Amino acid sequence: KARALAAAKSAAGFQAADMVEDGMVIGLGTGSTVYYMIERLSARVREGLHVTGVPTSFQTAMRAREYAIPLTTLDDHPIIDMAIDGADEVDPHLNLIKGRGAAMTREKCVAAAAFQFIVVVDEAKVVSRFAAPVPVEILPFAVTPAMAQLRGLGCRPVIREGVKKDGPVITDNGNFIVDCTFPSIADPAGLEKAMAEIPGVVESGLFCGYANKITVIVGNEKGIKKI
Ligand code: A5P
Repeated sequence: KARALAAAKSAAGFQAADMVEDGMVIGLGTGSTVYYMIERLSARVREGLHVTGVPTSFQTAMRAREYAIPLTTLDDHPIIDMAIDGADEVDPHLNLIKGRGAAMTREKCVAAAAFQFIVVVDEAKVVSRFAAPVPVEILPFAVTPAMAQLRGLGCRPVIREGVKKDGPVITDNGNFIVDCTFPSIADPAGLEKAMAEIPGVVESGLFCGYANKITVIVGNEKGIKKI
């Protein structure tokens, strides 16, 4: 089963890397599926492809350096050609839940700055309705009132704690992550907006409204399909 999952992720990641064109500035997402994309992109760079990447996390920046992919920032490139990223769930309208790896804030900045948004997932993540908790990055200063307001939106919010660290997970931006479990999400775009209005909320893991520029590459054991 682990081997089938790795095959699905690598099929999607490799396909995304093959969509990159010479001279592009690419948003480099975070997670295990993107890792395969970086591996393949690095091979293409060794063969002469010119690309520059904007990393969405410390982890991705470290991997990109290890794989000799040149890096840049949104300061130098406020508009980029293509963002490539993973997701935790994809619904039928191509809305996403992201943030299992706590990287969604930078991921959203990079996706918003990109002309094309390529999302790489294995087929188990394509769902008819969102069921995963929605991660929300929150300024520690405001976490208690922000969680009260999140409860008011109908969820059970829990501060994410570390596995290898006691106490709250601290994001790359120095904030907390609160995982919000909803009984169901009828209006993802409305919920994304409502969460963004709460003082202290930096970003949520809901990514809605990218329909005009998103391509989802779904990998399985046998290959890929694009939606
Ligand atoms: C990082 O915070 C997430 O948004 C990732 O993009 C997402 O969790 C995908 O990771 P995997 O490809 O490892 O499942």
